[in-house]
Amino acid sequence: MLSRVLALAALVLPSTAFITCSVLSYGAVADNSTDLGPALTKAWNSCVIPQATTVATDVLLYVPAGNYLLKTNVVFNGAKNWNLHIAGNIYLPYIPTLTGTMLTFQNCQNILLNGPGAIFGNGYRYRPGGDLGLHPSRPRLIRFQDCNNCEITAVTLYDAPQFHVTIIGNNNVAHNMAIIATNIGTTDGFDISGNNNYVHDVSVENGECLSSSLLSCVTVKTPTNGFVGENIRCKFTSGCNIGSFGSANTAVDVRNVRYNNVTISNSDAGVMIKAYPNNVGTVTNITYTGFTFVTMQPADINAFWMGDGVDTGKLSISDVSFSNFVGTGTPTRPAVLLNCNKATPCKNIKFSGISISGAKANSFTNACGSGVTGIPAC
Ligand SMILES: *[C@@H]1O[C@H](CO)[C@@H](O)[C@H](O)[C@H]1NC(C)=O
Ligand SMILES: *[C@@H]1O[C@H](CO)[C@@H](O)[C@H](O)[C@H]1NC(C)=O
Ligand SMILES: *[C@@H]1O[C@H](CO)[C@@H](O)[C@H](O)[C@H]1NC(C)=O
Repeated sequence: MLSRVLALAALVLPSTAFITCSVLSYGAVADNSTDLGPALTKAWNSCVIPQATTVATDVLLYVPAGNYLLKTNVVFNGAKNWNLHIAGNIYLPYIPTLTGTMLTFQNCQNILLNGPGAIFGNGYRYRPGGDLGLHPSRPRLIRFQDCNNCEITAVTLYDAPQFHVTIIGNNNVAHNMAIIATNIGTTDGFDISGNNNYVHDVSVENGECLSSSLLSCVTVKTPTNGFVGENIRCKFTSGCNIGSFGSANTAVDVRNVRYNNVTISNSDAGVMIKAYPNNVGTVTNITYTGFTFVTMQPADINAFWMGDGVDTGKLSISDVSFSNFVGTGTPTRPAVLLNCNKATPCKNIKFSGISISGAKANSFTNACGSGVTGIPAC
C-alpha cells in the first residue's frame, strides 16, 4: 500500500522538487571577508540554472545565516523562476573604486528576492561628511532591469552608497520591507518604472536631514502606465514623487498612477511632480489619496523643478487628484504649490479633504481645477 502511495506521489510531483543551492557549497564563507560575489554567480550557474521549474520557490539560491562581504557586482542575466533567499547579513566594503549595482537581475522573469536577511551598504563611507562629489559613481544596491513578474520582500536594506531598489519592467511587486539609510540623501528608496508595478507596506527612512535631502521614498519614473503604491511610511525623505524626468527628456509618459495611505513625516517634500521646462510628453490620471503629513510641503507640481526656466510648454500635466491630505505643513512653504507651463497649463487638478495646518498661502501658476480656495476653474 505504502509503495503504491509513493509511486503515485512520484507521478504527481513536478519535475523539479525543492532544491537549495547554498552559496556555502560554491565558495562563500560566512567570515565577512571572502567575496560573496563569485559564489553567488557560481551557485547560479552550476546549481540554479540547470533546474527546470516554473515555480520560483522551488529553487533557492540560498545565502544562509552569517556575515558575508560583497565586494563585486553580480549580474543575473536572463534569470527565470528562482528565489534568491537571503537569510544572512551582507555587507558592502568601502572600496573607493567600487561602482555599478551590487545585485542586478536583467531580462528576468518570475524571480523572488526575499529575506529575512539584510544588506548593509555602509554608504556613509562613500559620502564622508555629506560629500556627494567624492564618489559620484558610488554603488547602488539592487536593480531589476527589464524584469516582469518579480517580487522583492522581507529583506531589510541599510544605507546604500547610492540608490537602494530600482525596478524597470511590468507586473513587479515590492512589499513588506524596510529601507533605512543614514543622513546624507541622494540614495533613493524605491525607483519604479514600467507597467502595473505595485509597492505596498514598505517604509523608507533616512537619517535626520542635516542638509537638503534628495532621498526619494517611493518614486515613479517615466515611462509608467499603471502603478499602485499603498501603505507606505516615509521619514526624513523627499517624499513620494513622479520624476524627475531628466533634463532633456522628450518622451515623458506617466499615466494611471495611484498612491493610497501614505504617511510622510519630517521630510523635505510630500508628493511632487518634478519636471524640467524642456520636457515633452504627458503626465495624466494621477491619484493621491489618504496622506498624512508632518511638517513639510504636501503637494507640489512643478514644471520648473530644475533647469533654465524657459517655458517651452510641451509637457502636459492633467487629471491629478489629491484627496484626504491631513497634517501639518511648514510656515515657509505653501501646502499646495502648482507651478505649470503657460503654453500648456496643468488641467483638472482636483482637491478634496485638504486639511493642512501651519503652511504658507497656496500658490497657483498656470493651473486650473477645483477644491481649494483660489484655484481657477478649468
Ligand atoms: C563586516 O564588514 C563590514 C565591512 O568591512 C563592516 O562594516 C561590518 O561591521 C562587519 N560586520 C560584522 C558583523 O563584523
Ligand atoms: C495604512 O498604512 C499603514 C502602514 O503605513 C498600515 O499600518 C495601515 O494598516 C494602513 N491602513 C489601511 C486602512 O490599510
Ligand atoms: C485612471 O487610473 C486608474 C488607476 O489608478 C484606473 O483605474 C482608471 O481606469 C484610469 N482612468 C482612465 C480614464 O484611464
